[in-house]
Amino acid sequence: MIQTTASTGSLPTIPTASKMPIVGALPFVAQKQFDYLKEAHQSLGDIFRVDLGLTDVVMLNHPRHVQYVLRDNARNYRKGGNMWESVRSMFGNGLVVSEGDYWLRQRRMMQPHFHHRYIAGLLDLMVTAIDEQMATWPESDANFDFSTAVNKVTMEVIVRTMFGTQLNQAEVAEVSVGLGHALDYMLLGVVGQSLPEWMPLPGKKRYQDALALFDQLVYRVIEQSRKNPEDVNLLTMLLNTVDAETGEQMTDQQLRDEVATIFVAGYETTAIALSWAADYLARDQKLQDALHTEIKQVVGQDKPELGSLKELDLVKRTFQEALRIRPSAWFLPRLAVEDDEIDGFPIPAGTQIALMIYHIHHHPEQWDSPDVFDPARFKKEESQSRHSFAYAPFGAGQRQCIGRDFAYMEGQLILARILQKYQLSPIGASPKPQLSTTLRPKNGVHLALASKA
Ligand code: HEM
Repeated sequence: MIQTTASTGSLPTIPTASKMPIVGALPFVAQKQFDYLKEAHQSLGDIFRVDLGLTDVVMLNHPRHVQYVLRDNARNYRKGGNMWESVRSMFGNGLVVSEGDYWLRQRRMMQPHFHHRYIAGLLDLMVTAIDEQMATWPESDANFDFSTAVNKVTMEVIVRTMFGTQLNQAEVAEVSVGLGHALDYMLLGVVGQSLPEWMPLPGKKRYQDALALFDQLVYRVIEQSRKNPEDVNLLTMLLNTVDAETGEQMTDQQLRDEVATIFVAGYETTAIALSWAADYLARDQKLQDALHTEIKQVVGQDKPELGSLKELDLVKRTFQEALRIRPSAWFLPRLAVEDDEIDGFPIPAGTQIALMIYHIHHHPEQWDSPDVFDPARFKKEESQSRHSFAYAPFGAGQRQCIGRDFAYMEGQLILARILQKYQLSPIGASPKPQLSTTLRPKNGVHLALASKA
């Protein structure tokens, strides 16, 4: 349970966002969603407290907070608290949640394989996975459920790069739906973790079923892959990795935890960014035309190759801008280990904090017209005047996303493949972001697709 951030000695008390007795801010959050947090930021400043009834979180909204919590004083902020306990129940001791020496050892073993040089070796597998999924898309559609379709593409990419060809389409679909339920349930865990085990939180059974199915599939594929260690994919890479210090390899349980982690960390985050990118592009035909021109000049209708990715600069900046304006990982929670101070406010040991990446990516000190989608922000000359931690869609410091190069390559490839084939047009108003563990578009992105051929 979280401590309250009452005033310590002569230090001031952190301002609290408006709330009600007992249930705190929950009714406001439920009703106003993002607007509630936005209003709190505007009226209370870069640091404020939200009382969520059973739990209580200090929200940090400035790039200097990212630098401090994730880099300068990272040892004082661990992945504890309700949110991470909830994530732990799914990931076990995978890289996203493990800590201390165990985390360091696992990260050291895995890091080299996520370097862009190694990831480059997965490009062909990625393009094949993208093309296989996109082959099921219609030539044109007046109301295409883009989010569902692109979710399937990123799922296929992570399954194929992870397992090679070990799962069939039906199994891929089952894992995908199951993981969606599991992610929804994890958000409930943020507010529900302090409830007794027997409390039937909505979705609990679905969550447990999804997890059981997932474990069954993963253990089966691990067993098969041990028999074919020469296949090129992420799983065989993990299977063959040896700890330089001890000479040990990962056990099946450790492999399962890392596979689950990479799955959940790697597929929806990318799909969400692509959904938002497509929605913004559909609403800005001039920008879309510029992308079509770049893609035509660099790759025409050919499959993109490693060399062409460097030249697809606007495609990359579009993906970066989507991750700025709608960061999939819109908040990063941590738990203070020892008493600390931030901006002159007390942070007693046990305080649950959240770095509000969404607000940091819209901070008016750092970004002109932050609600406008503009990939030009990521031109080198534009980026130089910004705080180094003003953009942190992949986190920062030593716990920064290990899959960043993977995600950039995948995002660029998928956007390029889609725009090689289609013209996108909007339907209705832009979707609003949905308050969830990730920043999904509420009810998904629906677009009109027209074939360019
Ligand atoms: C656009 C896509 C992605 C976004 C926005 C994203 C975001 C993040 C963020 C913010 C963190 C740090 C969390 C924290 O500090 O609390 C993280 C960690 C991580 N991500 Fe990603 N991620 C993406 C794609 C991927 C992919 C494709 C993979 C794997 C193939 C991946 C695997 C991981 C892992 C294993 C960690 C934990 C790293 C550690 O703690 O050492 N992510 N990601």
